[in-house]
Amino acid sequence: MIKLRNIPNKLQYDFIHISKLFFNDVQLIDESNNEGYIVDIVQNDDEARVSLFFDGKIIEEKTTDLEKNSIKLALYDLLSKIRNSKSEYGILVGVRPVKVVHKLMNQYEDLKEIKTILEKDYRISSSKIDLLLEVAIKERHLIFKDFEAISLYIGIPFCPSICTYCSFPSNDINKKSKLVNPYMEYLIKEIKETFELLRSSNRRVDNIYIGGGTPTSISNEQLEMMLKTIDEYINPDDLNEYTIEAGRPDTITYEKLETIKKYGITRICLNPQSMSNKVLEKIGRNHTREDIIETHKLVKEFQFNAINMDLIVGLPEDTFDSLKSTIEEVVLMKPENITVHTLAIKKASHIKNNQEEYNLAKSDEIHKMLIYIEKKMSENGYKPYYLYRQKNILGNFENIGYALNGKESIYNMRIIEERHNILALGVGGVSKKKIEEDYFIRIPNFRSVEDYIRRFDEIIDRKKKFLNLT
Ligand SMILES: C[S@@+](CC[C@H](N)C(=O)[O-])C[C@H]1O[C@@H](n2cnc3c(N)ncnc32)[C@H](O)[C@@H]1O
Ligand code: SF4
Repeated sequence: MIKLRNIPNKLQYDFIHISKLFFNDVQLIDESNNEGYIVDIVQNDDEARVSLFFDGKIIEEKTTDLEKNSIKLALYDLLSKIRNSKSEYGILVGVRPVKVVHKLMNQYEDLKEIKTILEKDYRISSSKIDLLLEVAIKERHLIFKDFEAISLYIGIPFCPSICTYCSFPSNDINKKSKLVNPYMEYLIKEIKETFELLRSSNRRVDNIYIGGGTPTSISNEQLEMMLKTIDEYINPDDLNEYTIEAGRPDTITYEKLETIKKYGITRICLNPQSMSNKVLEKIGRNHTREDIIETHKLVKEFQFNAINMDLIVGLPEDTFDSLKSTIEEVVLMKPENITVHTLAIKKASHIKNNQEEYNLAKSDEIHKMLIYIEKKMSENGYKPYYLYRQKNILGNFENIGYALNGKESIYNMRIIEERHNILALGVGGVSKKKIEEDYFIRIPNFRSVEDYIRRFDEIIDRKKKFLNLT
């Protein structure tokens, strides 16, 4: 545990999160006792001094540059010294690392100069700097255009069971089956009204993502009704990508795939998370490795432009060897996209609330797994094309989307980089509205089906506001 004393408000968030890189528990205090590890700051007009008290000793870092960044570096260097460890992303906490790189790329042309800044001013490791630059260069090429177009996200908050690591707003469809019909009726109404509003404001939709939850949890008839409604307003040929998350193999049937194909969907997600049956059982997925292999064969027959497979590193019961087998099996199936998440311990998840039941991997084990994955991806032609981090992610690592050349998902890059307007329909999504260059506002949708139905009128009003129609 480390205690932070007299930390000015504007530094508290960063100080807490930088300290969390080195200590499990962090507490803000204002009393003057000196027991345990204590950090405090003294600042005057000329310098800031960050001090660390421990075991009756004191060590300090001084900076004459009073910018927030330099004071954060002083804290990072102190803690790194005392704990004899480093964080791969240095002082970058709570920010999207690739965004920092884009900002620097707007200021400097020379990549060497950018590398030096990322190393000196942020303490990012050289392998992560190379990774961030590779992703940023790819994004500039693929998504720094079509800024007037809108992406649509449509959320279906139902799944065949709730996974123990997940905190997405979703409902077990077996327990909440009565909600499905009314939800789909309102969702179809929202889709129609939104397209009418888009028409009257002359806005062009060039990308659709149907996510969740697991959209293929609903029946083939319900799926068809929704896709047919969308089809009345768009020509799939005008879209640069049309994705559906079919995530769970236990929701996919031949008929649903026929429906999905018929309405022009180009990208489909079939997500193993792991190919170890022991891991799948522990995380409550209700499907096996064999189900993934069978369903993948079925999906492959339909020749979508891209199949994506999501994986999670650091799942309970997973070991380096079982992770290796997962990667080897997934790579053999040759999906166009592989998205590698590092487990995040989400507040509302079963794992978070029952930690004693789960034996989770340590930071250095995760690191070893991620290095192995990076190598395997590269050997098989997969390149990283988007990257983001989440709160409470194991080892403070990241999620990386890999793709075969030319098969990168536009929507995934857009949602992370926030340069395009995204309009979210249904439960669980977040609309992103551009106010000015580099300034977007997030407008979260309701997280419960009950609220969505009860307050439907508000949802349409929000859409009008988003499109500047009120
Ligand atoms: C919105 S979820 C939906 C996918 C689909 N329902 C499925 O489970 O196959 C998208 C992805 O986020 C990842 N994910 C969800 N919770 C996570 C967590 N706590 N830590 C890391 N990744 C997570 C999983 O890989 C999941 O496939
Ligand atoms: S990971 Fe996917 S299937 Fe599992 S609960 Fe979350 S949204 Fe549902």
